[in-house]
Amino acid sequence: MASIIGTEDTIFVGLDVGTTKVTTLVGQLDAERNLRVIGAGVAAATGMRKGGVISLEAVAQAVQTSKDKAERTSGYEITSALVSLSGSGIASQNSKGIAGVSGRVIGPDDVARALDAARAITVPYNRQILHVIPRGFIVDGQDGIRSALGMHGYRLEVEAHIVTANVTALRNLEKCLEAAGLDVDGWVASSLASAEVVLTETEREMGVVMCDIGGGTTDLAIYIEGAVWHTAVIPVGGDHLTSDIAQGLHLPLETAEMVKRRHGQARPAAVDAGAAFAVRPFGQEQTVQVRMVDLAAIVEPRVEELFSLVRQEIKRSGYDGLLPAGVVLTGGSSPLPGMRDVAADVLHLPVRSAQPEGVRGLVDQLRSPAFATAFGLLEWGKLQEEQSLLEGKVRLLGLPKLDVRRAADYFRRLLPG
Ligand SMILES: Nc1ncnc2c1ncn2[C@@H]1O[C@H](COP(=O)(O)OP(=O)(O)OP(=O)(O)O)[C@@H](O)[C@H]1O
Ligand SMILES: [Mg+2]
Repeated sequence: MASIIGTEDTIFVGLDVGTTKVTTLVGQLDAERNLRVIGAGVAAATGMRKGGVISLEAVAQAVQTSKDKAERTSGYEITSALVSLSGSGIASQNSKGIAGVSGRVIGPDDVARALDAARAITVPYNRQILHVIPRGFIVDGQDGIRSALGMHGYRLEVEAHIVTANVTALRNLEKCLEAAGLDVDGWVASSLASAEVVLTETEREMGVVMCDIGGGTTDLAIYIEGAVWHTAVIPVGGDHLTSDIAQGLHLPLETAEMVKRRHGQARPAAVDAGAAFAVRPFGQEQTVQVRMVDLAAIVEPRVEELFSLVRQEIKRSGYDGLLPAGVVLTGGSSPLPGMRDVAADVLHLPVRSAQPEGVRGLVDQLRSPAFATAFGLLEWGKLQEEQSLLEGKVRLLGLPKLDVRRAADYFRRLLPG
């Protein structure tokens, strides 16, 4: 990926424009193909709401600041990046595509033609396809095939998951990036990026919901049998908790944010009955004592509401009976005490909290669930590069010599739209 000027190394740049912060990460592949973070820049974002741009200038400025910091820490000039996309403009559906096999053995071209057929869905004029991801293949009527590459067959069918984005939302974000001197190497739905670094292979195989609870949005991705089957964005996140606390306790937003992080709890029953803290509400000369149970009583209903929206979305997907691995929570709001308990109660599923795994380098300051999407973008860049290398290899060597299982994994994970 030609994201960086002045290097022959394999470098990836991931740019996560979240509702509360913009993160630029520069990643390098070492000799063992491990990702190392060699540069990072985080800037507070003010021009975003619920995952969408509401002020071009403010977002452009935050992107610029984050990019400048990443350039200074990495020592590279950044000209383009893989960029995350979230917000209510994201939608998904599943589709099927069929192709006749050109030779006797199924090659990447056949898979590509089947996927092209799957992507031939009717997309409204204001939507654009972001991803067409294979979920499974059917070869001459035999279903349940994870990878069709290298198999003998005449008729290849693919079941694909398609993610689309609202073009206006995408163009507005692109404008902010342009203003900060950045080209877009590719768009990645935030949920897919986060899932890449928080889910285990076993969870993906068994059936799991990844839930990235950020500031303005909650990004969902359902994985079953190793592939993504459903994605969605719920326009509710931690910032709603902050504004509830601000309203309920008559506090400025910054104070409410601090109170949430220090004393927040989603389960009043888990709070020590006598515990209290001091704050100075609007119109008060002196600080007043607020009981922790009263704070928890403000937080709990909003967290319950969030997970009931998650439950509705899981039901809407139709995969609610297929998730034995339960829910994996990540995102900046996921560490809130009591969050897991409420999730388990509302969803009736096992719940674990996760932060990004498997990335090395400058990660100490960034070891937080808030950076799942940003790390996921680097992982996505790596997978994309491996996929294109493999496509080259398939053509160069011919299929019999190819490590078909490895190739299969890459083809299954991602095929950008
Ligand atoms: N310790 C904490 N306890 C509770 N909430 C927290 C804590 N730390 C951060 N948060 C909340 O996490 C949210 C930010 O999360 P994150 O950084 O994942 O969001 P984002 O990526 O900027 O936004 P989004 O993904 O919604 O567009 C904020 O609402 C913040 O208040
Ligand atoms: Mg986010």
